[in-house]
Amino acid sequence: MAFLFNSTPERARVFAGAFARELPDLRFVADRDAVDPTDVRYLLTWTAPADLKRYANLEILFSIGAGVDQFHRDLLPPQVRLVRMVEPGIISTMQEYVTLAVLSLHRDLPAYLQQQRSGEWRARAGLPAARRRVGVLGLGMLGTAVLDRLRPFGFPLAGWSRSARVIEGVDCRAGPAALVPFLQRTDVLVCLLPLTDQTRGFLDAALFATLPKGAGLVHVGRGAQLDQAALLDALDRDHLSGAVIDVTDPEPLPPEHELWRHPKVILTPHVASITEAETAAEAVIANIRRHFAGQDPVGLVDRRRGY
Ligand code: NDP
Ligand code: OXD
Repeated sequence: MAFLFNSTPERARVFAGAFARELPDLRFVADRDAVDPTDVRYLLTWTAPADLKRYANLEILFSIGAGVDQFHRDLLPPQVRLVRMVEPGIISTMQEYVTLAVLSLHRDLPAYLQQQRSGEWRARAGLPAARRRVGVLGLGMLGTAVLDRLRPFGFPLAGWSRSARVIEGVDCRAGPAALVPFLQRTDVLVCLLPLTDQTRGFLDAALFATLPKGAGLVHVGRGAQLDQAALLDALDRDHLSGAVIDVTDPEPLPPEHELWRHPKVILTPHVASITEAETAAEAVIANIRRHFAGQDPVGLVDRRRGY
């Protein structure tokens, strides 16, 4: 029985050490050519190998990240359980990133960066935090965590999800009928939705038009949720004032793409969250122990729902 690890050599060293200490009877392999695929019961990776069918005894496919849309779920054999990464490093780095992004838009950083490039010393009119309404799409592990971190700044906070949620100090709305009023009250929109058939292309021209004039976007969900042309158009028409974008379609974004150079856009290369090897190894080991004990792993994906 083997655990096959497919990520960076640095992470492999950390995982190998933790597995040797905590699960010495489970063979840990970081080189897929060094193991008979039929011996592999657990696979940790960012994308599924092209020859997944050869892993005939695979029981759990662990994602090294929080998202799982990169796995074509219809191609996964039905008995394979898909598990997303739930570990504190992903959560705290996302909290940092979204806080940085929301504050950047709140304090007009894209415009000040432009002014700096042209040597223009000019103060811009601002709004107090109490009048800058922040709205988060997706109230799961990450949406809830970022709202928690934003709370002390005093922004009026709202969130939108599929099913109803209750979060202290957050105006929680749920379902399609609540979307328009949620968007109409949102000055900085943060997208933390998983990519599913329902959320593909979600950030489109109609959604941007529903946001108040001057609103900003923080997109940290998945690139395929964003209609990039619609975003550029809304920015160019000054309907939106700025955007912080961490995920694109495709990734990497081609060097000639307009988003790279748009004066109102701050772009980062899918780095909002960073899986921390030590705590990720602990989380995976705990899940394997749960599996040995006949319990569901933490982060088990509902393959029908898609997240
Ligand atoms: P969760 O599964 O914990 O939460 C997802 C949330 O989205 C839930 O609140 C869910 O609603 C809501 N949701 C899903 N579908 C819909 C829909 N159709 N309409 C309304 N709400 C919907 O996910 P996480 O918080 O852990 O992560 C969210 C996403 O963030 C990941 O899937 C990934 O794409 C992205 N991500 C990006 C990273 C980056 O570095 N840029 C890093 C990590 C994640 P309900 O509560 O009702 O289920
Ligand atoms: C992701 C991640 O899912 O980086 O994007 O964890």
